Amino acid sequence: MIKQAIIPLAGLGTRLLPLTSVFPKELLPINGKPGIEYILDECIDSGIKEVVFIISKKKQLIRKYFTSDKFFKKIIKKKKDKRLIYEYKKLKKYRKMIKFVYQNKPMGTGDAVLKTKKYIRNSHFLMILPDDLIIKKNCSKNMINIYKKNKCSVMASMKVKKNTVNRWGIYSLKKKINKNNFFIKDVIEKPEIKNAPSNLAIIGRYILPKKIFIKLKNQKKGKGGEIHITDAIKRLIHEGELFIGHNFRGKYLDCGTMNGYIKSSLEISKL
Ligand code: G1P
Repeated sequence: MIKQAIIPLAGLGTRLLPLTSVFPKELLPINGKPGIEYILDECIDSGIKEVVFIISKKKQLIRKYFTSDKFFKKIIKKKKDKRLIYEYKKLKKYRKMIKFVYQNKPMGTGDAVLKTKKYIRNSHFLMILPDDLIIKKNCSKNMINIYKKNKCSVMASMKVKKNTVNRWGIYSLKKKINKNNFFIKDVIEKPEIKNAPSNLAIIGRYILPKKIFIKLKNQKKGKGGEIHITDAIKRLIHEGELFIGHNFRGKYLDCGTMNGYIKSSLEISKL
């Protein structure tokens, strides 16, 4: 059963400067709602019961957003505003699910995942990268269904333009399962265009096995001096661990870049 999700939130958000100089990117509004709430709603709708947030001291505002009551209580007492009561209840519901761990040095997604080790109970868990919004279809839910059928790891995949492969983790395919799913032969983090085995990119939805922690403990730094989850996944695949790539349906919105961030509000407002 996949009941736990982890969400790395300690990134610096430099691609969204100046918006992120004092404010965490995950709290920035997308069509009137903080980006992170879209991710939490996707989790809840997928049957996730517990979410581990990996934050940093610099991003304490995220913790505060979900845990501080005082302001809400004061205003609600005075105004009894229906909308506010609804929003406050929603926050309390989120809060019940969330645990916080800290990654104070941004050393990469792999390092962030390792920080959650003591909380993970079942054999597999979900990881969502909050920059990657997927709308219209619940990608996590579909991946959990694939996991239920196949009892193996699953990662989201999307075809990208060939000249952008060096911005993504890229898959090498072993075998097609059906139209939307394939067995993964290998993964490579942000390859040069000439070395890319395909133009199928890793998108930020992963169902990972607990044994990834063993690999992460001694994972060496990779591209850009960071510890990448992709490199640990690569080692597991090479040892025979089964990973399925899932070409998700739904629309991908890249909220980690300024253009993508602006576009995402427009797209969501059309829903
Ligand atoms: C991360 C992963 C990369 C993946 C991407 C998806 O990169 O390292 O493999 O393709 O997310 O958004 P980042 O966006 O943190 O540079």
